[in-house]
Amino acid sequence: AGLGGSRLLGPVRSTGELLASQVPLPEPFRVPLPVPRVLQPVRREGDADRYEIVQREATAEILPGLSTPIWGYDGTFPGPTVESRSGRTTSVHHRNELPVPTVVHLHGGRTPPDADGYATDLVLPVGAAGNIHNGPSKHMYMHDPDAVVTMGARDYVYPLRQRAATLWYHDHRMDFTGPAVYRGLAGFHLVRDEVEDALPLPHGDRELPLMICDRSFAEDGSFRYPSIDNTLRTVPGVDESYVEGVMGDVILVNGAPWPVAEVPATRHRLRVLNASNARRYELALDPPPPGGKAFTQIGSDQGLLAAPRTHESVPVAPAERFDLVVDFGRYPVGTEVTLVNRLGSGPTERVMRFLVARRAEDDSAIPALLSEIEPLERAQATVTREFAFRGGLMGDRHGWLIDGQPFSPTRIDARPRLGDVEIWRFVADLHHPIHLHLVNFQVLSRGGHAPGPHGIGLKDTVDLNPGEAVEVIARFDGYRGRYMFHCHNLEHEDMGMMGNFETM
Ligand code: C2O
Ligand code: CU
Repeated sequence: AGLGGSRLLGPVRSTGELLASQVPLPEPFRVPLPVPRVLQPVRREGDADRYEIVQREATAEILPGLSTPIWGYDGTFPGPTVESRSGRTTSVHHRNELPVPTVVHLHGGRTPPDADGYATDLVLPVGAAGNIHNGPSKHMYMHDPDAVVTMGARDYVYPLRQRAATLWYHDHRMDFTGPAVYRGLAGFHLVRDEVEDALPLPHGDRELPLMICDRSFAEDGSFRYPSIDNTLRTVPGVDESYVEGVMGDVILVNGAPWPVAEVPATRHRLRVLNASNARRYELALDPPPPGGKAFTQIGSDQGLLAAPRTHESVPVAPAERFDLVVDFGRYPVGTEVTLVNRLGSGPTERVMRFLVARRAEDDSAIPALLSEIEPLERAQATVTREFAFRGGLMGDRHGWLIDGQPFSPTRIDARPRLGDVEIWRFVADLHHPIHLHLVNFQVLSRGGHAPGPHGIGLKDTVDLNPGEAVEVIARFDGYRGRYMFHCHNLEHEDMGMMGNFETM
């Protein structure tokens, strides 16, 4: 039975519903924190680097003693980390050995439209019959005359004319991003540059990428997802009982459940990414460090801040990144420091643990000035647009809509002129983390006020709170073409909360 309109259209409690694991949950803080392998280029030539990734099925021992089938970039979850240089053309050859079509998006990338991973630009499985009717083709695929479908493999070419930042890559297939990412199709892509290299920030093994996400496990060790067996059929990717988004009860960091990392008593740079489908976190340290706030934020989604900023806790919505420095030197050796989630309950209150193992030299520092950010002023904007992100009925089923409409590849919702500065004003019925492709933006206002301590810097994803308007300001430059903007709650995205803008 479908859900009644009253529940759907009335106030919604949360963003996400818990799907409980059918196996006993493991003891936390036993599994060592894995760090994803850094991918080596197959070729470096002039100012271009070439990488190759095979998307394939594999199994992983995520919960001790259990084997979990995954879909992985190079068969791992998270996928390998790509480390590239700002300004060098990075091309990644992706070969699809999975049983379903895929689309790769570099989240946060300033990417020409043909390589941006548009949701209908499918890469069909190697050996597929060459007929997208074999895939999960809601009729809309056939109605996108601009879709570029490739057989088996393709290159994604990234000019990376952008500053150093913590980017990530993940699947983006129309209607099926939720189940594909849940199964493991996500990895880090770190862009580095000279500005950042010149700073004395913690580096080497004192710089840790932390991909935080939640999963639920079935009795046989596989990931539990409401529609995980539907991925080959012609139905949308989400079971109707999970319209609000899928949340698991196991917190993974870099693919390991509640891991533990032994760290020297020095500063560490934590590049936090929330890669969850729907779960939001508020991260804090327990115990908090004596004398001072837990985190010094040095960067946001799109790289370094102008100046560092300290926080006791940090809210992280799906797809957001926070670049944080924690000084473990403030704790006595032997302290167990737990990274906690103030929005969780029970097992999801904890994320991971650091064990302060030994004294060590620390030559790192956090400079008072980190990078230059050109502030965009309200007066620079030529256009103000408004978009409402709300649930509603899409035919007879629940959908998540922008201005009352579900995603369609053929409808352009905004046509910014290339180079123009625009203000986009968002309103929402509940939490929706809104992401714009191509551009970075600054948060101008939240609820009519200055954006608050966590909204600083250059961002590409902003979390909307129920009933609160948020204004962002962006310069739409880079490339001409069709790009998506959408809610990054992946179930909301799959259920229609996505639109198009076309830079002209
Ligand atoms: Cu991280 Cu359009 O996505
Ligand atoms: Cu949403």
